[in-house]
Amino acid sequence: MMDFKSKYGSYALITGSASGIGFAFAEILAQRGVNPIILDINAEGAHHAAKAMIEKYKVDARALVLDLSKPDFMRHITEAVKTLDVGLVIHSAAVSVVGDYLDLPLEQHRALVSVNVTASMELAYYFGEQFKARKKGGIILVSSASALQGSALVQHYAASKAYILILAEGLWYELRSHGVDVLGLMPGSTETPAIHVGDPDLSGSYIMPADEVAREALDALGKQPSLISGARNRRDFFLLTRLFSRKRAIEIVGNRLMKMYRGK
Ligand SMILES: NC(=O)c1ccc[n+]([C@@H]2O[C@H](COP(=O)([O-])OP(=O)(O)OC[C@H]3O[C@@H](n4cnc5c(N)ncnc54)[C@H](OP(=O)(O)O)[C@@H]3O)[C@@H](O)[C@H]2O)c1
Repeated sequence: MMDFKSKYGSYALITGSASGIGFAFAEILAQRGVNPIILDINAEGAHHAAKAMIEKYKVDARALVLDLSKPDFMRHITEAVKTLDVGLVIHSAAVSVVGDYLDLPLEQHRALVSVNVTASMELAYYFGEQFKARKKGGIILVSSASALQGSALVQHYAASKAYILILAEGLWYELRSHGVDVLGLMPGSTETPAIHVGDPDLSGSYIMPADEVAREALDALGKQPSLISGARNRRDFFLLTRLFSRKRAIEIVGNRLMKMYRGK
């Protein structure tokens, strides 16, 4: 099997990789000899992660401190990567807010669109064009299993994740004949700092480790348009979306989230 470095290139850009699933992607890639570019808003976390990977895996890990909600973020990215052989891009950073849609400030909804939707569009456009011209490359857009149906309390987050999933699947078809692999990744609950936002009651939840989620996704890249992480999640979401009416599935998910976040 061709290794990642030969298949995609020496560097991988991973957004949101100071933490959680993004960090797991960066670490697994570093283990495989790919140099990770750790893009994150968290300056300390990004520098810390890059330093740790340089020391542990002897790769040329780099920190790129950027806020993806700012309009000029793509200019900073293109400047940072212009002399590097970047062949893989993973968009894992996201804004995740919990609460009734109308109770959240509009500014928060706008920031969510910038990071989850606009950044996916821009990253896929810029790197899609580069990779198509080189006839090789990989793009993973991190969606969520919440993309599969309307989800109360995380309604706008789930809507943005549906955008990401559908964009990735369409690009998978369009770009595969140009040698470019695209994957829309739908993690279920995953053990990262983000899962604790809103202080949910996670008892009884099936929670996957972040490195398993990342490893599975890297294995699926180039083989399929999208992936729900974990066999158990694949089974549960298959049943939820095929066995129940859409109305019932939305109610089941809404009831579960109400119990998790509101205790009722
Ligand atoms: N964990 C789960 O259960 C789960 C389930 C389904 C899908 N996902 C998806 O998986 C991806 C990774 O989530 P995670 O759980 O690993 O989250 P995480 O641990 O919070 O990591 C996300 C990283 O992105 C950074 N970030 C946030 N806003 C940013 C911005 N504007 N510009 C640049 N970086 C920014 C965060 O920095 P700060 O911490 O400083 O904000 C954090 O370091 C997300 O797309 C999420 O929607 C996660």
